[in-house]
Amino acid sequence: MFLKELSLCSFRNYKNLSFKFSEKINVLYGCNGVGKTNILEAIYMLGNGYSFKTRFDKELIQYNDNNYSVRGIFNDENISYNTIIDIIYQKSSKHILIDKKEIKSRKDIIGRVLYILFLPNDTELVLGDPKARRDYFNMFISTISSEYLNILIKYTKLLKMRNACLVQKPNEAYIYNKDLAKYALYLIDQNNQYAKMFGQYMNEIFSKIFNANNLYDIKYSNSAMEIKTETEYIEKLESTLQTQIKMKTTFFGPHRGDYIFSYNSNNSKRFSSQGENRMFTLIMKLASELMLSNIKKCSPILLIDDAMLELDNYKRDSILKYIKTRGQVFITVTEEDKVKDLNDGLSFDIKNINI
Ligand SMILES: Nc1ncnc2c1ncn2[C@@H]1O[C@H](COP(=O)(O)OP(=O)(O)O)[C@@H](O)[C@H]1O
Ligand SMILES: [Mg+2]
Repeated sequence: MFLKELSLCSFRNYKNLSFKFSEKINVLYGCNGVGKTNILEAIYMLGNGYSFKTRFDKELIQYNDNNYSVRGIFNDENISYNTIIDIIYQKSSKHILIDKKEIKSRKDIIGRVLYILFLPNDTELVLGDPKARRDYFNMFISTISSEYLNILIKYTKLLKMRNACLVQKPNEAYIYNKDLAKYALYLIDQNNQYAKMFGQYMNEIFSKIFNANNLYDIKYSNSAMEIKTETEYIEKLESTLQTQIKMKTTFFGPHRGDYIFSYNSNNSKRFSSQGENRMFTLIMKLASELMLSNIKKCSPILLIDDAMLELDNYKRDSILKYIKTRGQVFITVTEEDKVKDLNDGLSFDIKNINI
């Protein structure tokens, strides 16, 4: 799928604007504050109904207006017709329409268009707390596997109920143990396998781009990992019940895991420079893209927002050269000549676009 056309109405700083995009590279350039990220935000919303910046639709409406709308017209190389996705916000409620028919649940839009989003603060994946990494992998694996998504939803719901029970009726917490154990073991096993696969993909990407070897590694770490069977998991839930009651929470399980990143045997959290962190996260995102396109047999759209700032010219140019070989790309830059190698597509001067 690629985005052929985008129309914005009263969205952020755009009153009324339509774009026709290239199915390859689209460079959005202009100085800070002209509205480059706003365009990526609108494009991203067409894939899941939500912004990556805010959960409040009111913030997306152009100041002094009451409604906004975003329309995307997508085309699939294999199918000759277009898909129109509309997001219309009016009278304080949001409507999502696919080919002019309103969808009932947000689930119906997820997965239709796949994006890989590169943001300036992606380095939080390396530097931030484990939750940032868990969220990333939870979402990524869920995109690949609907079974994983279903079990993750069930596990999260059960855990919430069990934790409430630990506070209100601790003697009844055991009723959740069997299902919790089953889901937890599945999620831990999947997280472990995907982490390994991810590391391999990162190495493949690195050698493709730089023609050199690097040893990226991602290890899943979880204190419950040595537990192998449901019976053992239930026993652990039972034998630590008093501590759980005292802590008012189920203190182990997939919700407490982490992903340990390293390359060339160095733990990247402690030893990296800012440039190395940036490189790690870029390669991670490119690995996500390659995995998605291999496994889901599709071409995710790359949305790259000011994400190559700390890299030296050689690294940036090498990555851009690789990116050119992938699907549709939207990339924001402050100076157009920074991406002059990306000339097989279109460039948009955002400041001088008719707003
Ligand atoms: N709801 C809104 N209505 C009008 N303008 C907005 C709204 N939200 C943000 N903006 C404007 O958008 C601009 C920032 O756009 P952004 O895409 O982040 O810029 P860039 O990425 O080019 O640096 C700011 O000038 C801000 O005032
Ligand atoms: Mg920006």
